[in-house]
Amino acid sequence: MGDLSVYPGRRLAVPGDIRDASFAQLLIDRTVTEFGRLDVLVNNAGLGHHSALAEMPLADVRTILDTNVVGLVAATQTAVAVMKRQGRGQIINISSIVGQRPLMHSGIYCASKTAVNFLSRSWRMELKPYNIKVTLVYPGVTATEFGLAKLGGAGENRFGLSGIPAERVGQAVVKAIQYGRTEVYVTWYDWAVAHLSRLFPRAIDSFLAWSVQKS
Ligand SMILES: NC(=O)c1ccc[n+]([C@@H]2O[C@H](COP(=O)([O-])OP(=O)(O)OC[C@H]3O[C@@H](n4cnc5c(N)ncnc54)[C@H](OP(=O)(O)O)[C@@H]3O)[C@@H](O)[C@H]2O)c1
Repeated sequence: MGDLSVYPGRRLAVPGDIRDASFAQLLIDRTVTEFGRLDVLVNNAGLGHHSALAEMPLADVRTILDTNVVGLVAATQTAVAVMKRQGRGQIINISSIVGQRPLMHSGIYCASKTAVNFLSRSWRMELKPYNIKVTLVYPGVTATEFGLAKLGGAGENRFGLSGIPAERVGQAVVKAIQYGRTEVYVTWYDWAVAHLSRLFPRAIDSFLAWSVQKS
């Protein structure tokens, strides 16, 4: 965990494993005890995976889904119970551009992010009457430790793209809170890939395959 004392304001760190549903309860309870309310939940915890279909261990599939999907559901359920009582709140789910446009050799990670997208859009409708907003953020390649932490072997950046600084994603999240945005692309490139993929899926397949080969 980074040193939070360098940032302004009050802060509380609660270490734990998001795959354990009781951790979500502990996290939210301690936040409400410390700050008196819960304005925003950012579901950021996530784990990547890189492997060909034939070599993908089912244990890895479960770990990815437990972390990226089940953990997010548990945290959201717990936060929403508090937000409903408050009559307001915002859930921010950190998805990925690959949840909109899958890449080869990372099918289960892409599928986990697609699940996050559909859950979020469904909850957005369901929670609107309670004044709870649901925001999706779609980062592209970002310079973090994600490539080192991912399961299934190395493969830090196989797409010939240099990652944007993580601060750009953080700033996009802050703006999403300030302006109540619902769908957030961090760069124009990610926006273009998502939208062009729907219009020209085969051309984008070829472009991405070429990018991987080139890198
Ligand atoms: N980097 C990219 O290119 C990229 C692109 C699109 C989307 N994203 C998404 O952005 C989010 C943040 O990733 P990142 O790039 O910042 O990668 P990262 O540096 O590896 O950070 C991932 C974070 O998730 C936490 N985490 C993982 N498994 C967890 C678990 N079981 N319980 C609690 N926390 C857990 C990690 O905590 P510990 O450090 O304590 O393990 C870490 O803080 C993820 O949802 C990822 O899918 C990343």
